[in-house]
Amino acid sequence: MTAQLNADGDVAVLVPAAGSGVRLGPGAPKALRLLAGEPLLVHAVRRVAAAPSVRTIVVAAPAAELAAVRELLAPVAPVIVVAGGAERQDSVAAALAVVPADVAIVLVHDAARALAPPELVESVAAAVRSGHPAVIPALPVVDTIKEVDPAPGGSEIVLGTVDRTVLRGVQTPQGFRHEVLAAAHRAAPAAHTDDAGMVEKAGIPVVCVPGSELALKITRPLDLVIAEALLPLA
Ligand code: CTP
Ligand code: MG
Repeated sequence: MTAQLNADGDVAVLVPAAGSGVRLGPGAPKALRLLAGEPLLVHAVRRVAAAPSVRTIVVAAPAAELAAVRELLAPVAPVIVVAGGAERQDSVAAALAVVPADVAIVLVHDAARALAPPELVESVAAAVRSGHPAVIPALPVVDTIKEVDPAPGGSEIVLGTVDRTVLRGVQTPQGFRHEVLAAAHRAAPAAHTDDAGMVEKAGIPVVCVPGSELALKITRPLDLVIAEALLPLA
């Protein structure tokens, strides 16, 4: 495999970047939208490539943008670019399919979390290396969370207040033993909103490490404003 960073690294990072960014509003696919003059994907890949454990980066790009994405990333880092799929899970599967068999640890990292620092990549990878089959970065939930009865067409009725001390907001990169993520994808029973969800379903323990506020997911227009303000810290 040619597209290598650190040849001694034991980590491949899959970067799903094939979403359209509906919630961000009209424009280019989200991973190609600009933050301080550079596409979100460039910000994300640059930070992943700065993590010393990373040997290989695989980007799942919008099928219509493969050539553009290869050109965009050529000066940033050596990457493999594949076509993503209809759902995030399909994009992750397409990227996973080209990871060399001898890579021990696979991380999955949203291009939309463009400012996630290299230190977070390293801490997730280190926790997998230390023996955990699946590791996710997580932060405490700050809002009070209510459970509601979402009555169609009517007002939502509050059923109760959830104990937020046991809740966590989950980020990426999420890290796995290579064989654990591969097995979860082979089983892939239903759509999951994150990769650890598939692994949990298989009964494999998933552990949390501290997340980073810099790893916020750029989802709505306000998130771009916040990310721009965070750039000097990232
Ligand atoms: N993603 C992907 N393939 C898809 C859908 C999403 O690779 N079919 C990627 C996105 O590019 C993003 C990450 O998964 O980096 C997280 O998804 P999300 O934040 O939901 O991005 P979008 O799907 O692009 O946004 P939206 O849901 O608002 O359309
Ligand atoms: Mg989406």
